Amino acid sequence: MDKKLQTIFCNVMYAKSPTLRDHSIQTAEISKLLVRRLRDNGVDAGCSPKEAYSAGLVHDIGKLYVPESVLNKPGDLTEREMETMRLHTSWGRGFVENTGLKRYAEVVAHHHENAGGTGYPQGLRAGVLEPLTRVVRVADTLSALLEDRPYRRGIVDDDFILARMEEDLEGLFNGSSGVIRRAVLDYLTAFRKQKSIKEDTRA
Ligand SMILES: [Fe+2]
Ligand SMILES: [Fe+2]
Repeated sequence: MDKKLQTIFCNVMYAKSPTLRDHSIQTAEISKLLVRRLRDNGVDAGCSPKEAYSAGLVHDIGKLYVPESVLNKPGDLTEREMETMRLHTSWGRGFVENTGLKRYAEVVAHHHENAGGTGYPQGLRAGVLEPLTRVVRVADTLSALLEDRPYRRGIVDDDFILARMEEDLEGLFNGSSGVIRRAVLDYLTAFRKQKSIKEDTRA
């Protein structure tokens, strides 16, 4: 996905939901970092850092089909609204399969699979998912925990975040979960630092 297309796509997401745009960019950045780290440690991630960035950017493309009243709702979703939200994976897959983004169809379709308690459809085991999908799964979860929502602030307790992700990391990357864990920690350190610089500038 070239830079111009990425910019257009980000603008489209922003028009629908600024939160969706910010979450997708953050997921893209984390995905790229994770693939770089896997590579640096001699683990075949099955994709390039550039592909990981694009995959993170488009993983929630199906949310463009979710009504804004649901997507941007400032509060808990009803069960019916949750059902609509869960459809973003299949709607997204249907969209990318017929485009130049086909490479990311599995990521779009399965980035919530095997995630405890989220009710996503197929209950696929980590072993059948390509590494790129697993990388985006981790990046997506981390971004979701960090982001401010209209009804709650992002989580600031890094120990809690790591504990929350621990089971996923082990299940998704058993042999190389240490590499991913260290990358997540480094991301958190950089993220906190950047956030405090921003807050100091605002004060
Ligand atoms: Fe999603
Ligand atoms: Fe997401």
